[in-house]
This record gives sequence, C-alpha cells and structure tokens, in this order.
Amino acid sequence: MTETQDPAAGTARPSRRALIGWGGAGLALGAAATGGAMALATTGDGRSAPDAVDFHGPHQAGIATAVQDRLHFAAFDVRTDDRAAFVRLLKEWTAAARRMTAGEEVGDGAHGGLPEAPPDDTGEALGLRASRLTLTIGFGPSLFAKFGLADRRPAALVDLPHFPGDNLDAARTGGDLCVQACADDPQVAVHAIRNLARIGFGTVAVRWSQLGFGKTSSTTPDAQTPRNLMGFKDGTRNIAGTETGRLGKFVWVGDGDGPAWMTGGSYLVARRIRMNIETWDRASLQEQEDVFGRDKGEGAPVGKAREHDAPFLKAMKPDAHVRLAHPDSNHGITILRRGYSFTDGTDGLGRLDAGLFFLAYQRDVREGFVPLQRSLSARDALNEYIQHVGSAVFAVPPGVRDADDWWGRTLFAKEA
Ligand code: HEM
Repeated sequence: MTETQDPAAGTARPSRRALIGWGGAGLALGAAATGGAMALATTGDGRSAPDAVDFHGPHQAGIATAVQDRLHFAAFDVRTDDRAAFVRLLKEWTAAARRMTAGEEVGDGAHGGLPEAPPDDTGEALGLRASRLTLTIGFGPSLFAKFGLADRRPAALVDLPHFPGDNLDAARTGGDLCVQACADDPQVAVHAIRNLARIGFGTVAVRWSQLGFGKTSSTTPDAQTPRNLMGFKDGTRNIAGTETGRLGKFVWVGDGDGPAWMTGGSYLVARRIRMNIETWDRASLQEQEDVFGRDKGEGAPVGKAREHDAPFLKAMKPDAHVRLAHPDSNHGITILRRGYSFTDGTDGLGRLDAGLFFLAYQRDVREGFVPLQRSLSARDALNEYIQHVGSAVFAVPPGVRDADDWWGRTLFAKEA
C-alpha cells in the first residue's frame, strides 16, 4: 500500500475506507491502476460511506434496519467482578463499534500503531466496504445478578420457560450479554465480533456464537421475500422497518413500560432451531404447504393468489404454522422477526446440522415470544420437522445518542 504514510514519521494512517474509497474496491483499484491518487476516490470520512448504517439514534441499529444478508451473533459471559472494568469495556466496545459500522478500522488500525504492540485491528476487513454493518448489544438476565444490578432488571426480561419439545444445549443457551452483527459481507460481520471479543479478552469471554448465511426474514416488504431452508418465503407478514406506528406499539419499549433505562430499547429472543431437513425433504409438496398454510411457489396463503394477500385463516389446517402464529389467533401478538439460516456441518449421524437461527424483537417478552411459542410448541404442524436446541433472551438498551454516548450508559451511569 504505497499510499499509506510512514508511521515512523508520526503521521496517522488513513482508515480502510480512506484506503479503498467509497466507490468500492473496483473504483479504488481503478484509481491505483491508472496511477491516480487514492484521495480522488475517497472522502476520507468513513461516516459518509454510502453503505454505512448510522450507529447513532434513539434506537439501536440492527432491529428495524433493512435486514442484511449475513449474521454473526455472539453471546458473552462476564469474567470480572469489577464494575468499573466492565463499564470501561462497554465504552471501548462502543468506540470500536462506531468505527467499524462506519467502515473504519478499530483504533490505529491493522498496521498503523506501534511496531512493538499488537495492532488495534485484526485486519481482515481491510479493503472491504462498510457493508451496512450493524452491531446491536443486549444484556441477558444473568448480568443482573452481577455488579449490583438486581434492582434494575426489567420485569419484561423474563427467564424463558421450558416449552414442549425443547431440547436445549446448555453450550448454546444463555449469556450475560450478546452482540448481533449483521452485514452484507460475512467477513465484515465476523471481523466485528472477533474484534469485540479481542478487546474484551479478560473481561468477557465468548459463550457461544452463531453464523447465519441467509436472511429468513425481511423488514422491507417491497423487496423480494427471502426463503428459509425449507424452501418457503419467510418474513412476508413481518413488521416493516418503515412502520413507525407498529414499531412503537410492538417493538420499542415505551415510557413507563418498565425501568426508564430501557425506554427506546427492545427485547430480543434468540432460538437456534434445528430443522430435520432430511425428513422434510421426503414430505410431499401438499404436506409441506399444509404445514405452513401457504403455497411454496408464490407464498400465497391457502385459497389466495398472491403472497401479500391477507390470509384467510379458517381455510388453513387447524395446526398450520401461519394460522397459529397469526396475530388474529393470538390476541393481536406481533413480533419483529430477523432470523437467519445456518448449516454447521454434520450432526455425526450423516445429517446436516442445519436450521433457522430465530431472532425476534418485541416490546415485552411476556406479551410476545412467550405466549406465541406456548401456542406453537403445543400444536404447530411444523414441530414434526424442527427442534429448538439453543435459547437466549436479552434486554436491548436504547440507541447510542451521539459521539459522547456509550452502550449501556442508561443502565450503568449513576445519574441515569
Ligand atoms: C424453523 C422454524 C420456523 C420456520 C421455518 C418458520 C417459517 C415461517 C413461514 C414460512 C412463515 C410464513 C411467511 C411469513 O409471514 O413470514 C412464517 C410466519 C410466521 N412465523 Fe414462523 N417459522 C418458524 C418459527 C417460528 C417461531 C418460533 C415463531 C414465534 C414464536 C414464529 C412466528 C411466526 C409469525 C408471527 C409469523 C407470521 C404469521 C402471520 O402474521 O401470518 N415462527 N413462519
């Protein structure tokens, strides 16, 4: 990289954005090839990246944000009793997250710091775009048993009950906190989680993590609805990112809902749902369509022609997934789904370990996932083909307001 400056001369190196420019790799390489200065292809300011999602706002990004293609989700356990050290980490994480979501390297970058010290950034995202990276933090129930936080735990952050059919693996369940990284480039999402884990070394440790390779939900109804690993369109009747009314009613924690520190936040339920895809693939098309109550090609509800036609629930089998999950069958319960498909090798029995990493945001878990899953776990025809094998729940605090704010300030700051 001839355009970087000599650190020995004491000049800070430009960010990975500044190196590559907003036109993307092609534009930057073009400039290099023609001998043009890289500065011509760059603004030098990561925050103006056209594919960067704003890190700041009243709500955290990564919830109502248009769902990106890839996921890396990590649950962490706290490894310290020192509240000040944990708060310091949250501030360091915020600074790193602010830079990475803007397409910048962490700190002095992958090769810009002292030669004697490990670099501030691991480097594998150098030259990649911001890729609409969002980083969303959440606090698990077990965190509130630490740092004198017991009286700040929201009532809405319930421990999830055992549901019929649950076969949870403790190694993929729970967590003191989580970070959801979503991006259109898998390496950008992985880089973000890896760097947060690296910064947190000694203070937090990764408890479990999950990669997702394809979105199974959408917050952009005008775009093509993605398909899950069962081959069905998924996310058709999800809350759209632009529906401020429904987001306010069903997703964002409102004033007076609980502790003030959560106002503007949300609650996240994560479930690793294994699909018995080998069994599914042997089921007839009719059976598959009956299970969901929608047709496989268009995604239309039974008896209707188009995907977005309103479902007529009584036309579906009584145990059809859509019939049971629809708000009309659940006193209006509505959640925002944001899940991803996964395949994690084999289960050792000659089958793929594949399924759906279900992520759902809601204003109150007691009025969202819990009653919905109670109903589904008891009766859903889909249960024959799936099994819930991992589970976690998190309080997702409100957004980071500005450059001086940090993740978790409303929970930890004395005056909050
Ligand atoms: C592997 C597991 C699952 C698969 C493959 C799956 C698949 C689907 C599909 C294909 C649809 C129809 C299209 C749509 O409106 O999005 C749907 C709808 C829905 N699902 Fe699931 N789902 C799964 C698990 C769950 C769970 C655990 C919940 C909640 C506890 C849930 C809640 C819903 C809701 C609320 C709807 C929309 C119903 C409506 O408004 O019509 N799903 N799901």
